[in-house]
Amino acid sequence: MTTQQPSESQIAVHWREEEYYQPPSRFIGQANASDPVIIERFSEAHFPECFKEYADLLDWDTYWHTTLDTANPPFWKWFVGGRLNACYNCVDRHLAIDRNKAALIWVPEPESEQTQAITYQELYQRVNEFAALLRDFCGLNVGDRVTFHLPMVPELPVSMLSCARVGVIHSEVFGGFSGVACGDRIADSGSRVLVTMDAYHRNGELVDHKAKADEAVEAASKLGVQVDKVLVWRRYPGRSSSPTPMVAGRDFFVDELLAAFHRQRVEPVSMPAEAPLFLMYTSGTTARPKGCQHSTGGYLAYVTGTAKYYQDIHPEDTYWCMADIGWITGHSYIVYGPLSLGTTSVIYEGVPTYPDAGRPWRIAEQLGVTIFHTAPTAIRMLRKLGPDEPHKYGYRFKHMTTVGEPIEPDVWRWYFHTVGKGEAVIVDTWWQTENGGFLASTLPAVHPMKPGSCGPGVLGIYPVIYDEDRNVIEAGSGTAGNICIRNPWPGIFQTIWGQPERFVELYYSKYNTDPESKDWRDWPYLAGDGATLGADGYFRILGRIDDVINVAGHRLGTKELESAAITVAQVAEAAAVPVMDELRGRAVEIYIALKPGITSSKEIEEKVVESIENQIGKIARPKNVWIVADMPKTRSGKIMRRVIASISNFADVGDITTLANPEIVDDIRHQVQRAK
Ligand code: WTA
Repeated sequence: MTTQQPSESQIAVHWREEEYYQPPSRFIGQANASDPVIIERFSEAHFPECFKEYADLLDWDTYWHTTLDTANPPFWKWFVGGRLNACYNCVDRHLAIDRNKAALIWVPEPESEQTQAITYQELYQRVNEFAALLRDFCGLNVGDRVTFHLPMVPELPVSMLSCARVGVIHSEVFGGFSGVACGDRIADSGSRVLVTMDAYHRNGELVDHKAKADEAVEAASKLGVQVDKVLVWRRYPGRSSSPTPMVAGRDFFVDELLAAFHRQRVEPVSMPAEAPLFLMYTSGTTARPKGCQHSTGGYLAYVTGTAKYYQDIHPEDTYWCMADIGWITGHSYIVYGPLSLGTTSVIYEGVPTYPDAGRPWRIAEQLGVTIFHTAPTAIRMLRKLGPDEPHKYGYRFKHMTTVGEPIEPDVWRWYFHTVGKGEAVIVDTWWQTENGGFLASTLPAVHPMKPGSCGPGVLGIYPVIYDEDRNVIEAGSGTAGNICIRNPWPGIFQTIWGQPERFVELYYSKYNTDPESKDWRDWPYLAGDGATLGADGYFRILGRIDDVINVAGHRLGTKELESAAITVAQVAEAAAVPVMDELRGRAVEIYIALKPGITSSKEIEEKVVESIENQIGKIARPKNVWIVADMPKTRSGKIMRRVIASISNFADVGDITTLANPEIVDDIRHQVQRAK
């Protein structure tokens, strides 16, 4: 967190925030938590035992003896001594009553294709067969890692739950990431097996996804990790939809292999609560992604509890979270939380706005969705392309969620009045890949909603805002600071895979005053977001304080973007900065300085874009590439990204007298602001 780096929270816009909405009475009457007494049960006086209430939502093979072990801070251990299986909790335990109820409903992109309902019994069968394949064909054992690069198909939750069944750690890489980005993550996790799919539909196209698997295997091999099996699910079993050839001895079609595992049963392996369940990679301050390691018992308890009280999931709901399972939101609130509660979870292929902006509302009407969950980016897009579409469809939501970025009050109001038809409660949930589940939100039947603010800390979470010197920023002061969580909670990640020092350094060292202390109160968790706290106890998140840019809810590291840009031969220096964007919240702009003697050209700009898309993925595509004569620099030669970001955002550049080359600032300003 250098002063050189502009942060998202510094370019945040400010809006009026005194308006409240009461939860609709229709919602309150049926809510899982409607009595405010629950807040007292999770107050600090009851910490950490309060989380027993979440853990008791699970079936344990062996009950734990210690709720929270703080012997080795900040490597907290939850529910120590307990044993359970996550797949058993999400599948097997529902069979007795709900065998024939849909666990998953999958909506393919082509509207001509049938929606598929997969019952708990069918899910049980599919998970058993694939678990047997992983164990007996791939030779995978407890603790091994497997990377998935899967799109939004039911085979993704099937693969996740199969791993969980046999104690194998899954690491799903978002399907939209490039092959190279997938390869980095394969290498970092040391996976010998990659699970992918031949093709999938997106935006009217059948995308060749198998090609990325070959790139991924090659990229991993360059980093010293050999993938020996690539399992390829087929979008249409029995026929291949990808022109990319299979590599003999390495690549296998899953549907062909499964024939040998037909009707096989695999006992769920009883795992210690502290055993890792999965890795989820996220961007950070260096080019190397961070594999956030999540536990089995603590994680599952936390997502089950928060899904119950904050998503208000009842077993009879039809629940649709429109996120991608390739992100933490999908892991926690499409797969593990909802299935653990035995509800019906909808997943869909494609994008919300294809073939038109009525698609989500059509799906909602067709399936009778009662709970709807999405991100501000999707809401902004749907509002822009189809502001009146929701009125045309006869769905009825009781509950809606927004997650992933700050939501502008104006966008919130459209979500409430038009999408929710004024009848659905909204929760604005703030949290992160590292956290497992929600950190701040209103409790839907208890707290009034305030557009633009997520709300207080959720049950058992005690947030605080510190200034740089660890002074507490008081509620209602209007001052922004660094939001931290004062206490551990069961969903917090256990470590960064293979980088325990970085884990401590990045998340706990800033505000820890005594590295020897065994008291959790001395180890506040640094979230990496700027925030303010209203007099009403509601937090408002301003954006990242570090070198991360949140584009349409996807975290991109500025270092990753810059490293990709400078692989272009003509580029000498690159700087990535966040800019405000009407639809995506933030977008990325890249500034480039060329090597001596090279003249600027459209072709170089295109190469930079291409390199970023190849190394990270299309989601990282910059909004603009600016080739400038020189970068503004300090006398010690550091690029002043703060100055560049101010120019991009038409903001005041502040004091530039300390620059080595202050004259360049006006040149860049003229070049960029005139072109915009
Ligand atoms: C941002 C997504 C404002 C924040 C679950 C955080 C939000 C980052 C909100 C984590 C929200 C998430 N309001 N900002 N409700 N939710 N963020 O890891 O900057 O993909 O640090 O996890 O998204 O993104 P991640």
